[in-house]
Amino acid sequence: MSHHLPPSPLTAGRSPALKGRIRVPGDKSISHRALILAAMAVGETRITGLLEGEDVINTAQAMRALGARVERTGEGAWSVWGVGVSGFAQPEGLLDFGNSGTGCRLVMGAVAGCPLTATFDGDASLRKRPMKRVLDPLTRIGAKVLGSAEEGRLPLTLQGARDPIPIEYASPVPSAQLKSAVLLAGLAAPGETIVIEKEATRDHTEKMLTHFGAAIRTDPMGEHGRKITLTGRPELSPAPLQVPADPSSAAFPLAAALIVPGSEIVLEGVMMNPLRTGLFLTLREMGADIETVSAKSEGGEEAADLRVKASSLRGVDVPASRAPAMIDEYPILAVLAAFAEGTTRMRGLSELRVKESDRLAATADMLRVNGVTVEIEGDDLIIHGSARAPGGGLVATHMDHRLAMSALVMGLASDKPVAVDDAAFIATSFPGFVELMRRMGAELS
Ligand code: S3P
Repeated sequence: MSHHLPPSPLTAGRSPALKGRIRVPGDKSISHRALILAAMAVGETRITGLLEGEDVINTAQAMRALGARVERTGEGAWSVWGVGVSGFAQPEGLLDFGNSGTGCRLVMGAVAGCPLTATFDGDASLRKRPMKRVLDPLTRIGAKVLGSAEEGRLPLTLQGARDPIPIEYASPVPSAQLKSAVLLAGLAAPGETIVIEKEATRDHTEKMLTHFGAAIRTDPMGEHGRKITLTGRPELSPAPLQVPADPSSAAFPLAAALIVPGSEIVLEGVMMNPLRTGLFLTLREMGADIETVSAKSEGGEEAADLRVKASSLRGVDVPASRAPAMIDEYPILAVLAAFAEGTTRMRGLSELRVKESDRLAATADMLRVNGVTVEIEGDDLIIHGSARAPGGGLVATHMDHRLAMSALVMGLASDKPVAVDDAAFIATSFPGFVELMRRMGAELS
């Protein structure tokens, strides 16, 4: 499967002070989970604020193919009539997840405990990403891989278990997708499924399972870890879901406001789950002027309105232990580090190599072609900032939405414009990005 649209290049140039009050689209992680868990509940779940990006739409399509009724009733408003845990039907044709690792891996988990066979595929980016990490525990639960590309990559065919076995799984990598796949498969198994993670990763699956009435418990384990215990075969009951704004999307206008002189913007309803806010913490250490103007709860998650003003930033050392709480934010942090005074070192970025692109290499290249001094040392990214960036480069985005948005933000404040080879993938996670940025004053053409 591939993206059939021709590439759409875009250029960002020096912009006047950015102004405005904006709300970025719904959280991508929560949107995928809302559709999948609603499809595994019995009856109708109403979702508001759903992210209507390509990644999530592909997950909605997969839920339909597996027998759930999924309807859009208004902007961001969706209704899902679920089929119950283990209720998925044999899909016709393959399940195409496009660019989305989250959609693909979570649905692999969701079907692993159902007696059906499904073929998973995606675009050229997703076909390069490791799936073995998910297939290992799912085969322990009883699923079978009937065929796959090399090393368990897509396209692959998975046969769900007729009698799924509850497992205790110590996750070898800090990955919320992997944890979630095991928990979703564990829903169909009798008894307790246990996941142990050495470093806590985003806990939206756990929170949402509680919201739907499953018995799931989280206990601290070790210095940064957790033990999660799920009781299998619950009846999931529909409960309305409100999706808060995605902090990983908010990061782009927020970063733009920090580096374009004179800017002041307000970001509304940004999710503040502590396992997602590593970037905000790092930015405060860098001297960023980010003020929480009001805090509230949206759909069982903390959320806040944030006021952001252009700031002088200084370089910092970002500890490896913070990586899970800001894993998607390193490309944009790298841009901010270029505009900071002094060196920024980001430690422990091995997981960045297996994202929508090799984000460690691609982030370094993005800065280098724009005249910024960058080094990669082992799994660390080191940026020598000088409070300005020359710009003038053409950035290769490698089918990666976050690289595209990061590069464009850079161009709003660099000496010369920054161009990207393809802005089309921004639609996977942040539809309306270009319009929203333009409305605040950004020069994008
Ligand atoms: C996600 C988990 C992270 C993150 C991705 C969304 C999720 O991936 O990078 O954008 O929704 O669970 P990993 O599980 O691979 O770390």
